[in-house]
Amino acid sequence: MGWNSWNTFGAHIDETLILQTADVLLETGLAEAGYRYVVIDDLWEGKERDAQGRLTADPHKFPSGIAALAERIHAKGLKFGIYSCAGTHTCADQLASYGHEETDARTFADWGVDFLKYDFCNVPHGAHGPTLYRRMGQALRQTGRDILFSACEWGVNKPWLWGRWAGCHMWRTTGDIVDNWDSIKDIGFRRQAGLELYAGPNGWNDPDMMVVGMYGKGNVGAGGCSDSEYLCHFALWCLLASPLMIGCDVRAMNDATLSLLANPGLLRISQDSLGVQARRIAPEKDEWDWSDFPVFAKPLADGTIAVGLFNLSDGDGCNRMGVAWETLGLDTHRACLVSDAISGETIGEFRGSYSERVPKHDARVLLLTPVLG
Ligand code: GLA
Repeated sequence: MGWNSWNTFGAHIDETLILQTADVLLETGLAEAGYRYVVIDDLWEGKERDAQGRLTADPHKFPSGIAALAERIHAKGLKFGIYSCAGTHTCADQLASYGHEETDARTFADWGVDFLKYDFCNVPHGAHGPTLYRRMGQALRQTGRDILFSACEWGVNKPWLWGRWAGCHMWRTTGDIVDNWDSIKDIGFRRQAGLELYAGPNGWNDPDMMVVGMYGKGNVGAGGCSDSEYLCHFALWCLLASPLMIGCDVRAMNDATLSLLANPGLLRISQDSLGVQARRIAPEKDEWDWSDFPVFAKPLADGTIAVGLFNLSDGDGCNRMGVAWETLGLDTHRACLVSDAISGETIGEFRGSYSERVPKHDARVLLLTPVLG
């Protein structure tokens, strides 16, 4: 959980923005809620490596240097992340780590980096993608510093199959998200189903940084979403046990954004210690099968089951959506206490199934707790 500069700021980053963002994470309670990694994405880099072959920072954007910035972030009790790329150049054409993996890993460790996002642009023809991630994974481990390794390979070589082995702790499963409903439907709802078996503690599917609260502004602003669409987005990311990287300008976020990102019920689901990624239980068929009414379920460590009912349809009004105990592995006769995960309110005790009306482009997230004894 953290914040990344790319979605809103793109090239327009500097140390003032990063420090202000860190302060806002603290002041708003988002850091306390778990958002601790402050990550600078692409376009932090200087034009040349130094005499020792090390990457340098853009002196205009980061005049104090990255090590000093990391130290100030650490002094606030937060963690600091940075970006590089497995190719010769980054996606925004800056110097990158191909052929410099050990030097760059060492440099990042010396600077106090806690998180490395590692992209996949400008990889030399014929180079083997998984090998490049394995190389950086090894180089990071050799530094002895605890650095979270975030592969941004867009799913090209199915990183869910080899990412963990290559030392990655999370791996992007798709291309880039943009801030609109179609993108959330495509990346979140269409393209994650079927990957749940590959996620777990120390290795997570990453459907990209969040666009919650962007409302169409910024680098990947593309029309924006309504609050209930952002709720669908955030609830799904929590159910999927995805990394939760905030992408909006937290300095200017509204109350709806803050209370969604800090929602205790949804974060409990996201951060549950069992670390299971929700499975789409309806429709159950093959992974590319589309439905406007998907239902996701995520078992939690204490025996509770989190269920997301998503109405993705464009029709008027509400649709009745529900979940049958049978599809969750629960005995049909078992009484379950059903509560609303978002509001925390108890709905009641039910047997066999539960349903309710869900407005279009909206979601309900339920907690089903078996009543035992
Ligand atoms: C790629 C990544 C994005 C971002 C940009 C930076 O497109 O997928 O998340 O890091 O590069 O150039």
